[in-house]
Amino acid sequence: MSSLLSSKSAVALISGSGSNLQAIIDAIGSNELQLKLSAVISNISGVKGLERAELAKIPSKCIRHQDYPQRNDYEKELLGEVNKYSPDYIILAGFMRILSPFFINNFNGIIINIHPSLLPKYPGLNTHQKVIAAGESWHGCTVHVVTEELDGGPAIIQAKIKIKQNDDADSLSKRVLLAEHKIYKKALELMVKSKITYQHKKLKFNGQILDQPLNLDQIS
Ligand code: GRF
Repeated sequence: MSSLLSSKSAVALISGSGSNLQAIIDAIGSNELQLKLSAVISNISGVKGLERAELAKIPSKCIRHQDYPQRNDYEKELLGEVNKYSPDYIILAGFMRILSPFFINNFNGIIINIHPSLLPKYPGLNTHQKVIAAGESWHGCTVHVVTEELDGGPAIIQAKIKIKQNDDADSLSKRVLLAEHKIYKKALELMVKSKITYQHKKLKFNGQILDQPLNLDQIS
């Protein structure tokens, strides 16, 4: 599934359900997002995200990290596969492997990630549990450029979610995931249209340095 009008392409890396991948596939299908998804690569076999790719007729492949005792060997294999498509972007869509500087530095500023927290707060895992345990009033999600620092690259866009008194990690994660689907396709749309650019470690929005991430209301 791809748009003929698009000159930009991407490879998506997944590890699981692929609901973010699906949101991107749907946005491409409805021409909301002018992007060609060239391939989907999972590090785990049998996941729903691979089925979603197949249904959308996107070439897909599983490269199991478990088959490579050395991280570097796994990443070399992944690098070779991604490079076959010469993508403009590498979309991490629920990809649950930490990529090393070796991989990241091969793709300067074109690896994009979605993270379920209002970065720089709560990088890493179990963000929903952590915000509840900390008694936060707000949670959310962030699309950011991937750099060597885990979940630390420049943030493009965020969605804020008000935490309800009776929320638990599960109920909160469901609302955050819905917001993820909205901001990921929006971030990609802005990048494909060159409204968001990344150069010399700085993001620009409409030509102006972006110091604070956009929020969905600002640009929808
Ligand atoms: C999402 O919350 C993503 O941000 C996180 O893992 C979850 C995966 O969702 N890293 P999906 O695979 O896109 O459904």
